[in-house]
Amino acid sequence: MSRLLQIHSSIFEHEGQSSRLAREYVQRWRAAHPDGEIRLRDLAADPLPHLDAKRFAAFLAGPGDRDSQQQAIVAESDALIDELRWADEIVIGLPMYNLGVPSQLKAWFDHIARAGTTFRYTPDGPQGLLEDKPVRLFASRGGQYVGTAHDSQTQHVKDFLGLLGFTQLHFVYAEQLAMGESEQTAALAQAHAEIQRLVA
Ligand SMILES: Cc1cc2nc3c(=O)[nH]c(=O)nc-3n(C[C@H](O)[C@H](O)[C@H](O)COP(=O)(O)O)c2cc1C
Repeated sequence: MSRLLQIHSSIFEHEGQSSRLAREYVQRWRAAHPDGEIRLRDLAADPLPHLDAKRFAAFLAGPGDRDSQQQAIVAESDALIDELRWADEIVIGLPMYNLGVPSQLKAWFDHIARAGTTFRYTPDGPQGLLEDKPVRLFASRGGQYVGTAHDSQTQHVKDFLGLLGFTQLHFVYAEQLAMGESEQTAALAQAHAEIQRLVA
């Protein structure tokens, strides 16, 4: 049985353009995997707190040294990491906000990056500790950045997921969504066609 973890990060929750593209992919995936299991985590509907010094100290504390508050903090992070381990495939809705990722997604990043658990430091640099698996990202943007030096979002997301061990990344972009009706229609048509190819 296949297992898919779906992450939404749009502030518009499941109605965001990125969420809609992700949903379209997941509907097709569902048709191709009738027995498959899907878990949805909507980071705007169910937000995580910002990482702060207290939370980070809980991550660093040894299992035997954590007080009850620290245990609860680590349990929350562990549950997020367990979802990543559980899935055979991960789907992420990825809007661009102010040239970067939504702060809700960044908060999730900050809860799943755990030295010694999801990555470790080696003399050759950091090494991911999660099993590599396909990650499909549905990136929606008002402007156009792919292939330019200004697309720091794509590089950041690649670097972050690579830190954990995920290298099989597939980005589907819908760009120019705020650049006029015909541009938007063309961009969405291209994204829909790519989604069809992905699950064909
Ligand atoms: C707060 C905010 C910031 C945005 N910043 C950018 C930006 O820096 N570059 C860009 O191309 N589009 C920007 N946009 C447009 C979004 O990327 C675009 O509307 C995208 O489809 C949003 O995805 P969503 O509907 O899934 O949230 C911004 C939109 C919002 C709401």
